[in-house]
Amino acid sequence: MTTLEFAIGAAYLVAAVLFVVGLHLMRAPSTARRGNLISAGGMVVAVLATVVFALLDAGGSVWAWIALLLGLLAGGSFGVVRARTVKMTDIPQLVSLFNAVGGGAAAAVAFADFVLHLTGVTLGLTSLVPIVLDVLIGSVTFSGSLIASGKLQGVIPSRPLSFPGARVINVAAVVVALGAGVLSILSPHNVVLLVVVLIASLVFGVLMVLPIGGADAPVIVSLLNAFTGLAVAMAGFAIDNQAMIIAGALVGAAGTILTLQMAKAMNRSVGSIVLGGFGTGDEKAVAGAPGQDVANIRQVTADDIAIQLAYAQHVMIVPGYGLAAAQAQHEAADLATLLTDHGIDVRYAIHPVAGRMPGHMNVLLAEANVPYAQMLQLDEANAVFDTCDIALVIGANDVCNPDARKPGNPVSGMPILDVDRAKSIVVIKRSMSPGYAGIPNPLFTDAKTGMYFADAKRGLDDIIVAVKEYITA
Ligand code: TAP
Repeated sequence: MTTLEFAIGAAYLVAAVLFVVGLHLMRAPSTARRGNLISAGGMVVAVLATVVFALLDAGGSVWAWIALLLGLLAGGSFGVVRARTVKMTDIPQLVSLFNAVGGGAAAAVAFADFVLHLTGVTLGLTSLVPIVLDVLIGSVTFSGSLIASGKLQGVIPSRPLSFPGARVINVAAVVVALGAGVLSILSPHNVVLLVVVLIASLVFGVLMVLPIGGADAPVIVSLLNAFTGLAVAMAGFAIDNQAMIIAGALVGAAGTILTLQMAKAMNRSVGSIVLGGFGTGDEKAVAGAPGQDVANIRQVTADDIAIQLAYAQHVMIVPGYGLAAAQAQHEAADLATLLTDHGIDVRYAIHPVAGRMPGHMNVLLAEANVPYAQMLQLDEANAVFDTCDIALVIGANDVCNPDARKPGNPVSGMPILDVDRAKSIVVIKRSMSPGYAGIPNPLFTDAKTGMYFADAKRGLDDIIVAVKEYITA
């Protein structure tokens, strides 16, 4: 082993330790930011080590140097600019785009390695198997993540898109990809077969994600994230890069655990995602979206809410996507502080899939300096809803839809926050529009519910003014 190889190996080891420590710290919201920084530090070490190695390996080739530095500059600046400018509500589609880039890059690395060995030394099974798996998984991730990102961004309709025979083509694409993959391993000097793997996998990625819509979208983004990790690990095996193997395995494992947890939180089966036909009931959701009974709505004003709040002992704030869209986390926190200063107990009920990405509500509330102790997870919140005088629902809908307890609708079986068990309920939203799943919510016509139609930020501002007037009067 040369000194350079030893130094690169040591740098990869440092990077791996930083990844593991960072991931460990991400388990709790209070340490997650530090964990993220430490993991990012690990990635900087790994990238620098790889670039130094590649530059020295390229010898005097000026073009290799230019290509490497241009790649570093283009990728690095795109990442920095997008991450700094992205809106909080657009992060899921950015994550999906990053999944696409990661999967595509991993597939490209494996493909290039295969092409490099078309003539000359025949690759062994320990290289060929990861190469084929990488091209397969990386291509599925690339096309699937692009479609998922387009759906989340609204460039592609977010409703389930399908056509007659889609499932047959899905199965055919898998069979062709696997068959051509096996033949590629048996004929390592034939690039055409690997191109067939690539095309069939790209087709499968598109067809896997197109039929998914409504409440099931987050699970597929998380699954594709796990696929990205697997593809990167396979690329690491193909080109013998330890940092890629470790980072890929960590992302693959973390993504798989998250996928399983989210699927459980939404009562969906992960198996049915891969086989297609995932998200049963979404079609009904789209057709039935406007069907909310509006005759029994009880509208309330900011003053009505202020009076209710001032007399309450226990208040539960239920934040949802609308709070994120309105960026109303600071106003929610200000209202909570105002109430707690007057001896009222205020807590927040956090549903695992409230918003549009995992941990969305925790991140927003942490940004507004809400103490972690005030944030109750689903089970903790459900244990105390019936002792709450008011549940203040701010831009949440599906995550507190009591119809989830009934069969035959898109959110059936999804664990929900039992908001309807609170003594009284106030819902802040702009209209009777449905949530992400596209179905009516009987909570809004419950006799205990007062609807306050307003943008979350402006509505909370008005309530804060009214509460201040009421309390000081
Ligand atoms: P949703 O069910 O999507 O409902 C959000 C509500 O917010 C809408 O009914 C909307 O009604 C209201 N709203 C939008 N903008 C608002 C604003 N500026 N001010 C006040 N209200 C506003 O949200 P949820 O209850 O948080 O549920 C999340 C849903 O998204 C679930 O179905 C979940 O499966 C899905 N999803 C979750 C994730 C993850 S991982 N968290 C990812 C993708 C999808 P108006 O238009 O009438 O105001």
